[in-house]
Amino acid sequence: MTTMTAEEKEAALARIAEEIKVCLRCELHKTRTKAVPGEGPADARIMFIGEAPGWNEDQQGRPFVGAAGKFLDELLASAGLHRGDVFITNIVKSRPPGNRDPLPDEIAACEPWLARQIEIIDPDVIVTLGRFSMAQWFPGERISKIHGQPKRVGHRLFVPMYHPAAALHQQALKTTVLDDFSRLPKYLAEAEALKRSEEAADEPPPQQMGMF
Ligand code: URA
Repeated sequence: MTTMTAEEKEAALARIAEEIKVCLRCELHKTRTKAVPGEGPADARIMFIGEAPGWNEDQQGRPFVGAAGKFLDELLASAGLHRGDVFITNIVKSRPPGNRDPLPDEIAACEPWLARQIEIIDPDVIVTLGRFSMAQWFPGERISKIHGQPKRVGHRLFVPMYHPAAALHQQALKTTVLDDFSRLPKYLAEAEALKRSEEAADEPPPQQMGMF
């Protein structure tokens, strides 16, 4: 667990974002317009991880600002969450040409950025959006089987969700995703309680009153 102050966390995230913007670790830097580091408060309790920037994101340098992003905003609102309170990023920070799937070496090259963002923010809940981010924490699983079901890793809960873009045009999936998102406040409360109980277990026992 990180012991940085809020200001230190903000500064560290901003430094990482600057590094991502000039990153040359994979071929995607040759075709991107802007890299998309992600955005949200450094003390966000919940983090959403999508796949990769699309056309709109590549133009603006911001995550989830196209049609899928609009739907993500709706999903957040339906769960009583606001974009300004959550951290949103992607597994790959630069747009794959033509919105093709990210390649394994691109995901591997980008992984250290995400690892650093997670370490700094230290969120209680991480929501994976779509199969590429899901595969990082639920390898070999199928989204149709495990969507919406949290997995505990330490004090943190990982929740795999369908990608908003997949659900956007399929009414049945839309209903499923809305239903999965509606349970996020409950998972946040559970994860916070887990963290508090771990912190309490780490505390030294209260001092005994001296007998003499
Ligand atoms: N889809 C994603 O996975 N990420 C974005 O930022 C936008 C669309």
